[in-house]
Amino acid sequence: MENRPQWGTRAGFIMAAVGSAIGLGNIWRFPGVAYENGGGAFFLPYLFALLTAGIPLLILEFTIGQKYRGSAPLSYSRMSKGAEWIGWWQVAIAFVISTYYAVIIAWAMSFAYFSFSNAWGDDPQTFLLVDYLQVGEAGAVGSLVPGVLIPLIIVWGVALGVLFAGVKRGIERANKIMIPTLVVLFLIIVIRAMTLPGALDGLNAFFQPNWEMITDGKVWVAAYGQIFFSLSIAFAIMITYSSYLPKKADITNNAFITGFANSSFELLAGFGVFAALGFMAAQQGVPISEVVSSGVILAFAVFPAIINEFPAFNEFFGFLFFTSLVLAGLTSLISITETYVAGIQEKFNVKRSTSVIVGGGIAAIISLLFATQGGLNFLDVVDYFVNQFGIAFAGLIEVVFIAWYIKQLDPLQKHANSVSDIRLGLWWKVCLGIITPVVLGYTMYDNLRQNLT
Ligand code: PFF
Repeated sequence: MENRPQWGTRAGFIMAAVGSAIGLGNIWRFPGVAYENGGGAFFLPYLFALLTAGIPLLILEFTIGQKYRGSAPLSYSRMSKGAEWIGWWQVAIAFVISTYYAVIIAWAMSFAYFSFSNAWGDDPQTFLLVDYLQVGEAGAVGSLVPGVLIPLIIVWGVALGVLFAGVKRGIERANKIMIPTLVVLFLIIVIRAMTLPGALDGLNAFFQPNWEMITDGKVWVAAYGQIFFSLSIAFAIMITYSSYLPKKADITNNAFITGFANSSFELLAGFGVFAALGFMAAQQGVPISEVVSSGVILAFAVFPAIINEFPAFNEFFGFLFFTSLVLAGLTSLISITETYVAGIQEKFNVKRSTSVIVGGGIAAIISLLFATQGGLNFLDVVDYFVNQFGIAFAGLIEVVFIAWYIKQLDPLQKHANSVSDIRLGLWWKVCLGIITPVVLGYTMYDNLRQNLT
């Protein structure tokens, strides 16, 4: 344990945590979720979820990692004998997520390449995925497969190479390069998008508050879901990263910085995406609601179409957009994969290099299967279940177990307060012990009800 790796600098840890948080979820998930759940009015539940669940849970996970200095399974078992399984459950979800997250990054990488080599032509309809996604024809997927295999190998090569190099020389260094680069690239795209004709209408549509929706439970569920997903909470990730913190690091402060940095980027993505959608709607002379989308369709069908209509430098902006997706995704993939690399390493007492090769290798092989034709359908199913149940369930178990079963909130609070300038008061325990379990319990119930009816 003495030679546990450590972050070299505070900024290094924050970059890594922010790198994990800022991911595909910020760029393609948040804008659509906000729009569908009340637009400007969504910011109220969103902010509430950030302050009552997001940041309190980040503080909790940072504290667990820093205090118990282990991967998630080891940290849980040190906190309470018999709790190791919670760590493994979270690591298992992280493992599953990593296998398909990598495929999406690989798509983005091949699209970055396409845009640069001008392979997507002038007609957005000829774009590879448009057919597949909208019509559901398998034909286009066939042509996609060879295009994604090589990028997928590169994606795993980079992620595992970074993990192989270690915490300070690998993860920290990679994030210190990738995150600032991402912010610069993304800012260029957002500024360009906001200066296009129609952009303002897009932003109006995005921020137009629909206050009636605020009384709808679904909107609150969406806000909490977005915060959990976006902050990489309840997947063993933040526990693992904070286990490499020095003993005196100010965790509460770091959690606030990470939470606000992530939300700022999310907001920026909202501006960029809706400005671009506004432009597209204006070009086509249709209302914005007709062009709004999210997820795979937004990134790989709608965005290419929008970029094709840019007045100039289409290849350049296409390349910037997809490279941003790649960078945002890679820094998250690295963090997700680190959870099981560290878990395996400590459980079986093997070298880091061995667990990178074994754990990462298995994940990479499974994700190659996702990249095949049948795998793409499977990806949808897995994604759906992880998002509908995995997140809420993992978070619920975590807070209920810690707050009510092993009753560890007090000692954890004491630990956090001993290293931090910001003192955690009663509010922190109320958020974790009462508000978060109630909301997550309701989320589970709501998801189950929807799936059963
Ligand atoms: N927080 C990252 C994102 O928003 O994309 C990474 C991530 C965490 C993705 C958890 C997916 C996930 F379920």
